[in-house]
Amino acid sequence: MLTIEQNERFTQVGAGTPMGELFRRYWYPIAAASQLKDLSTKKVRLLGEDLILYKDRSGTLGLIEPHCAHRRMNLIYGIPEEHGLRCPYHGWLYDETGQCTEQPYEETEDPDARFKDKIKMKAYPVEQQAGLIFAYLGPAPVPLLPAWDVMVEKDVIRDIGYALLTCNYLQVMENSLDPIHVEWLHQYWAGYVIEKLGRPDLNRERAIHEKIQFDRTEFGIVKRRVIKGGSEEDDDWKIGHPIVFPNMLRQGSAGSGGAFQIRVPVDDVTTAHWWLRWYPKKDGDLDQSPEDVPFYKVPVPEIDEDGRVPWDVLDNNSGQDIVAWITQGPIADREKESLGRSDKGVILYRQLLEEGMETVADGGDPLNVFRDPAENLYIHLPTENNVRAFAKGPKRQRGGASTKYSPIMIAREGVVKY
Ligand code: FES
Ligand SMILES: [Fe+2]
Repeated sequence: MLTIEQNERFTQVGAGTPMGELFRRYWYPIAAASQLKDLSTKKVRLLGEDLILYKDRSGTLGLIEPHCAHRRMNLIYGIPEEHGLRCPYHGWLYDETGQCTEQPYEETEDPDARFKDKIKMKAYPVEQQAGLIFAYLGPAPVPLLPAWDVMVEKDVIRDIGYALLTCNYLQVMENSLDPIHVEWLHQYWAGYVIEKLGRPDLNRERAIHEKIQFDRTEFGIVKRRVIKGGSEEDDDWKIGHPIVFPNMLRQGSAGSGGAFQIRVPVDDVTTAHWWLRWYPKKDGDLDQSPEDVPFYKVPVPEIDEDGRVPWDVLDNNSGQDIVAWITQGPIADREKESLGRSDKGVILYRQLLEEGMETVADGGDPLNVFRDPAENLYIHLPTENNVRAFAKGPKRQRGGASTKYSPIMIAREGVVKY
């Protein structure tokens, strides 16, 4: 249980809040590169700030305030130039540092006009990796974009999934520290969903957790479990499943090399959820340019007036998780929660967040801020690849959004029957 004040401390991500300051020490995906293939601007909201992402004609990316400093037209309609983005209203031009570099009428009346030198809009650094565009909203010096294995693995192909969730990031992250929900939400309830959908042939037996444990690691937390019928010799226990601080879940998975689920705080009540997966190349797979990495959207169901969502979005892990997250409300009332032994991972994650906020308040770098290029070449995250809970027994429902909706998975395995 948290007090109302503690819950606010953990969930508010705006500038100047303790969590907002911690989160401003990290890079976040804000778009797939393919989303800027045919359009030159994109609306972005991140950590409570509204911004415009643009790509100019030379290919330079910029991330600047949305409203022109002149008379405030929104730059979503900005025109890409060779260098910078031009406001359509009176033609002021901005570069990727936010500097105004042209004010056509001012310069017509007075060729020596230097008014533009005084106009600098807010702008943030952006970088591209693994087909994603990342932004950093924090203070200088800007840290390195981390070279996590999922992001930098070579000679692979990738795809990118996205959902915009109507809840705070903490509900989503706490779910990743909670192995017990798998046997209930993804097995027992999933069995009921399957019954409601008239597909009774799948295994509905729970893979019962006999033991769970959470350990701090260099990169965050590893969660371990022993499933009934298994032992501490299983990868589920020996290797476990990494949670990368502060906002990512690393997954190993059948049919692919590895994946990240990245949870990005858009504001206090909205979270962008990204699925990034890599696949070993097969014969005929070409190298992907960043714009070629396929992008797919994962449906986020509307909750109807009876408080329900359609059954058919619930036939996969991600659909089930999404409903568990968003039905807690925009921000869960943690002053009314009742944590038990199953929640020790949630408690440890909150401790890490608290320590991170304190480190930042003391002027230090929190976990997973990288500044030394020599330590940021390829960061391997050991991950169990064979989750016994899903491998055992007759056929079970298959995976989540990155199985059901991923174009590469569908191309390779056909539409998966749930
Ligand atoms: S409002 Fe942008 S140039 Fe005038
Ligand atoms: Fe889940």
